[in-house]
Amino acid sequence: MPLETFPPPAGLNAPEQVHITQGDHNGRGMIISWVTPINDDGSNIVKYWIATSDKSTNLSAEASTTSYRYHDYTSGFLHHATIKGLEYDTKYFYELGTGRSTRQFSFTTPPKVGPDVPYTFGIMGDLGQTYASNQTLYHYMSNPKGQAVLFVGDLSYADDHPNHDQRKWDSYGRFVEPSAAYQPWIWAAGNHEIDFAQWIGETQAFKPYMYRYHVPYRASQNKYTPQNSWLESELKKVNREETPWLLVLVHSPWYNSNNYHYMEGESMRVTFEPWFVQNKVDIVFAGHVHAYERSERVSNIKYNITDGLSSPIKNPSAPIYITIGDGGNIEGIANDYTYPQPSYSAYREASFGHAMLEIKNRTHALYTWHRNQDDEPVVADSLWVKNRYFLPEEDETLSGNSRD
Ligand SMILES: [Fe+2]
Repeated sequence: MPLETFPPPAGLNAPEQVHITQGDHNGRGMIISWVTPINDDGSNIVKYWIATSDKSTNLSAEASTTSYRYHDYTSGFLHHATIKGLEYDTKYFYELGTGRSTRQFSFTTPPKVGPDVPYTFGIMGDLGQTYASNQTLYHYMSNPKGQAVLFVGDLSYADDHPNHDQRKWDSYGRFVEPSAAYQPWIWAAGNHEIDFAQWIGETQAFKPYMYRYHVPYRASQNKYTPQNSWLESELKKVNREETPWLLVLVHSPWYNSNNYHYMEGESMRVTFEPWFVQNKVDIVFAGHVHAYERSERVSNIKYNITDGLSSPIKNPSAPIYITIGDGGNIEGIANDYTYPQPSYSAYREASFGHAMLEIKNRTHALYTWHRNQDDEPVVADSLWVKNRYFLPEEDETLSGNSRD
């Protein structure tokens, strides 16, 4: 969609590109992010209050403010404020901006952590900002069930435009605001966030993304260490008696039978897959491939170079791998599958769409994939997912809507 589709909001120095994400480990913190053209008095303040309370009792937090240059572009002022000590399962209003440019938003905090607490995620990836992206986003938003979004990377696709046109990061921020300002989007970074372009002197990888999209890595109480040590310590912290579901977001899929990006996730798979099986991860969501695919529960961790055991095998302790890179970006659909369909691949389809994961309790979650075909969100693949920690041996059952 052209830049003009997403004008900035009206008013002098109006806050824009508002988005929120989880701000702590337990769900009592929220990171509020927004952009203003000028760094004026008060433009870095977020006021917030419980929806049922009197606004005059409001609390406020101050953002850290930065801006960045990229080639011939200078960003607006990028504000990120973490608000803490929120009540569980409570609707809050929050307000940004000053005077007549004030804008008000709201969010609802997640329920108190517990083993049988229902919660529903939307899942999207590789979204971009095309008309197909728009359809994906609004299909997701038209479903009132989604409480937070798991996003598997590749956001704006600014890097597909001349000199990584940074205005595309701004238009993307405006595009997703109708959802991202009202519920947390949990971001994973993809290759389109790298923005490395040495021919225009831009050699700081992930610069625009890191300035614009803060994530709660400090909540994990790690330094910004390499992925390996972070993941090793993070997995140990998960108490499945308290939070039964273990979901992982990566960008490149590990089990992918599409010729696009075939085997690109292989080195990561070899490194981390044994931990995922050992820790009985329930589902791994990936993007990168612009199509949809769901795997069987398989693993490929026995191979030691000489034993010949190099094929994936069914393994009840292994996660289900889902490729959901079908948000609808400018690069189009990846419709070039390998044939025959390998046995690890349970369902695959080259259509745009999004998914939902409705966690019902400690043992069951309903997973559905909604493709954009037919101009309305159609459920084309669905599955009752059995929790690997509480029901380690049970096979999943296809729910009634599934076509295969
Ligand atoms: Fe990608």
